Amino acid sequence: MDWWQTGVIYQVYPRSFQDSNGDGIGDLAGLTTRLEYLAWLGVDAVWISPFYPSPMVDFGYDVTDHTGVDPAYGTLADFDALLARAHALGLRVLVDFIPGCTSNQHPWFKESRASRFSPVRDWYIWRDPAPEGGPPNNWLSHFGGPAWTLDETSGQYYLHTFLPEQPDLNWRNPKVQVALLDVMRFWLERGVDGFRIAAVPLLVKDVQFRDEPPNPDFDPQWDNPRYQRLPVYADNQPEVHDVLRHFRRLLDTYPGRIAVGEMPDYFPPETLAVYSRPDRLHLAFTPCPLSLPWRAADLRACADKTQAAFGAEVWPTWVMGNHDRPRLTSRIGPAQARAAALLLLTMRGTPFIYYGDEIGMLDAPIPPEARRDRVRSARPPNEADGGPANRSRDPGRTPMQWDSMPNAGFSGTPPWLPIGPDYEHRNVAAQRADTGSLLSLYRFLLRYRRGSPALQQGTYRSLDTDSPECFAFLRETPEERLLIVLNLADTARVVSLPPLGEGQVITSTLMDRAERIDLQTIFLREHEGILFDVHGPAEAEEVLP
Ligand code: BGC
Repeated sequence: MDWWQTGVIYQVYPRSFQDSNGDGIGDLAGLTTRLEYLAWLGVDAVWISPFYPSPMVDFGYDVTDHTGVDPAYGTLADFDALLARAHALGLRVLVDFIPGCTSNQHPWFKESRASRFSPVRDWYIWRDPAPEGGPPNNWLSHFGGPAWTLDETSGQYYLHTFLPEQPDLNWRNPKVQVALLDVMRFWLERGVDGFRIAAVPLLVKDVQFRDEPPNPDFDPQWDNPRYQRLPVYADNQPEVHDVLRHFRRLLDTYPGRIAVGEMPDYFPPETLAVYSRPDRLHLAFTPCPLSLPWRAADLRACADKTQAAFGAEVWPTWVMGNHDRPRLTSRIGPAQARAAALLLLTMRGTPFIYYGDEIGMLDAPIPPEARRDRVRSARPPNEADGGPANRSRDPGRTPMQWDSMPNAGFSGTPPWLPIGPDYEHRNVAAQRADTGSLLSLYRFLLRYRRGSPALQQGTYRSLDTDSPECFAFLRETPEERLLIVLNLADTARVVSLPPLGEGQVITSTLMDRAERIDLQTIFLREHEGILFDVHGPAEAEEVLP
């Protein structure tokens, strides 16, 4: 097994993790000072969202130089120092890689836009207006409005899957491929351990730019009209797999370095599995727990289907939060977030933790004058989000709550986004001091996982229970058999399971049980989850937080 299969990856949004120079914006030097915390927590790798030079229209996903560092975040020397410190602490570092588009301020785009005859015109996707005038086809931007913007000077339209300030690169042009592979090589030579690759299935477009067909399920009440169309021609084209093979061939010349691909909600696990084949991505984000209501039947179906589709050959990932979604704890509730921690860290696959979820940070209220994100959610309405899909992403990107000092220990000055109003009690320092806190639960589970062959690499098998609100599954290797049981109901449940013998409680999500019980009937309090050692000794294993 490789590190990226057994390890746990922690996502840092650098703008909001730690400010070191008092400008209210997190930076690389600040993050470096917090790496010890991540080592203490027990994660294996950090994925840093973009820190490249950018006008920040989409907060760094609009890049003007893929091989630099934006002055707000520091310098390349700061990045080197961060990497050296991370490696000294035993942490690996993944960087975000955005190959599909650039900022409209990128020198490539400025040159491409300069004239129809520019030598780099074809680095981007330019088309004449439709014969009757207007955009060349009916494609819509993920962020609303047409996916095409007219360039008055040349009379042609350029394609942008996201904002008009993020023109799409033309991946059918071999020169673009070479330039972007050089970007990967640049970071690999600097020593990064891999990449989170943005919007992978959108890299290559239909060669004929055909109109997307209508979506028969579209509901006009949905805020984002993009879902009027089915993503058939702008998405998931077969040629994207050739691009991934190029990436993989390069990565394979740097042993241990990996690529994790961002995937849309609507891909079934069978499609994700194809993207994760051994000659393509190492990992493809499995979005289902992130997009599902907190219901046992849905979570079980997601895990079972993923397992069935992935089989033994490809390796899944599990994600409960990221910078594009509402906060996990706001989505499902604080008691539920403890159960989510247990689920995330015991499923078969590589878990990703979004910064702050380990202390249960909530979506912070953002007054209109403090709003920064111009983008509204790119997803269809989603029951799991508990509200309209068309919402700002700011509330889930607020500064990390380190302690109860002014600005939550994040910065000496008021930060770029407001601090969550609960920071005086919901913060790392307070939860480090509390052995029953959510942070202590995460740390306990992370450390337990590290020493557990069954959690790191064991098989997964879900069990039938007589309680529809409960989810139970086994993780097994020849030497270890673990049972995980979660009660997702608001009231206590007694769960009956197939005969398994006795089990020793390793931990409850409430961290207050250590008994050995017959596993045929298990009493669980509301929202409680329990991890059992099915062949456990009479005494609880000492795995101290
Ligand atoms: C990022 C989003 C971003 C989008 C478009 C995605 O990979 O996760 O935050 O808005 O790309 O740039």
